[in-house]
Amino acid sequence: MKIIPLPKKIIENSGALTLNKYVGVRLDERFATLRARIEEGFMGRKVSFDGNDVVFSFQEGVPTEGYRLKVSANVTIYASDVKGAFYGFMTLLQLLEDDVIPRCEIEDEPRFPYRGIMLDVARHFFGKEEIKSLLANMAYYKMNVFHWHLTEDQGWRVEIKKYPELAPKACVRKNDWKNPLGQMTGKPYGEGCYFTQEDVKEIVAFAAERMITVVPEIDMPGHITSALSVFPELSCEQKPLEVSTKFGVKSSIGCVGNEDFIRFMKDIIDEMCELFPSPFFHIGGDEVPKDKWKSCPKCQKLMREKDVKTENDLQGYFTNLITEYLAEKGKKTIGWDEITETKHLRSDAIVQWWHGKEGGKWAERGGKAILSHNTLCYMDYPYIMTNLNKIYRLGPEECKMKPEIVKNILGIEAPLWTEFVYDKKKLEFMLYPRVQAVAEAAWTPFERKNYKDFESRLTKYLEEMEKQGICYCPPRKYNPVGLYRLRHRLRVARKIIKDPDFEVNC
Ligand code: ACM
Ligand code: ZN
Repeated sequence: MKIIPLPKKIIENSGALTLNKYVGVRLDERFATLRARIEEGFMGRKVSFDGNDVVFSFQEGVPTEGYRLKVSANVTIYASDVKGAFYGFMTLLQLLEDDVIPRCEIEDEPRFPYRGIMLDVARHFFGKEEIKSLLANMAYYKMNVFHWHLTEDQGWRVEIKKYPELAPKACVRKNDWKNPLGQMTGKPYGEGCYFTQEDVKEIVAFAAERMITVVPEIDMPGHITSALSVFPELSCEQKPLEVSTKFGVKSSIGCVGNEDFIRFMKDIIDEMCELFPSPFFHIGGDEVPKDKWKSCPKCQKLMREKDVKTENDLQGYFTNLITEYLAEKGKKTIGWDEITETKHLRSDAIVQWWHGKEGGKWAERGGKAILSHNTLCYMDYPYIMTNLNKIYRLGPEECKMKPEIVKNILGIEAPLWTEFVYDKKKLEFMLYPRVQAVAEAAWTPFERKNYKDFESRLTKYLEEMEKQGICYCPPRKYNPVGLYRLRHRLRVARKIIKDPDFEVNC
């Protein structure tokens, strides 16, 4: 049986059930919100909600997001919540091939409650169509968090009503880069490329129908040059700035000693919290060079007043202030692991660990963490660096965390940064089949994971993607053997520096 992610327990029975063109469905009223998904899911078949071919039944005791599926004379999906019923349905769709469903009994539930994909729409913009396609695929593989990286030095991509000029101005940069050698296109990039609040509502609703929580990320107090280009008075140096035309870490950051900067961030949070029902809010917090704070009279004055000893602690002070503000709104703050570079971080902050391979130091201190080790799962890295097998190895037990720490790991997430992802073709190439690998790493119990077995099941989904016209990365590239041995990989690596699309096109 070729199910991805592999369920917790499968009993295969002999025989199969045939579904014809008309499918009679019985849906417990507690799962009524699934109607539209069920109608569209059985593509090509006519669904009526008055039969017993497929029964969605409420059953207490089935774990959250879990389901039991039984295929015998008909199909029954048992769940105790709508998410579980939905995931049972996703499994059923994967089992259904040429009108036939093999008889079986499946018991399933996720390994982690947080199973994420991040997309950076700031370095290069991807609109509603690409995002909806990603969300639909995430749901098919039981992923449940879409982390939407909306703002960057190189572009601000969400409308803020209180600051109407922010997005229209800060979404454009005067020039765009071509490759890591610093060659430029000589053309402006990003005019009009931002999401209106209506667009956001549409995406959030589309995701919710597929059991996906959308977590917005507004990066602060660094990676914010685009906003500071419109409001330079909120930076420490208070000098005119431009939306960054180069990638990398930028030295201009928000002036934490300036009350107007704090108000600005809170205003943005206010509007975002109205749009995103997610219990989580991501505040970035990564790569904040502190030089400007060191020489800023306002920041230094605040440090003296609040007895803040170091600039790292000043970031801690700021993170705590925002975390408290979000907590008052019922939101949990997520930040990249740099927010732990102070001893004083609030214990309710959730840390997304991205450095190295082991990580999770915050979890060792008792805090909640999400694992996103760059060397294992960054999807912007070429496949010759982050191959499929590496991404499959993401997880706390996999990186030998002690059992008492594992319980602090909320889940895993694979980010896609888009410095060198310019179009749909490359986007799909970088995502698939990494999404399938991270989905299995996030859902399937550690003891059941087996990369070889995963690869053998994956062939079915490569064929499905082929039919859908998705430009996925084929096995000879994600699984570097033969021609892709070391020398060849080095050659490819060198080529990618000059032409970031080399791997896609070669
Ligand atoms: C990051 O990769 N800067 C979180
Ligand atoms: Zn300052």
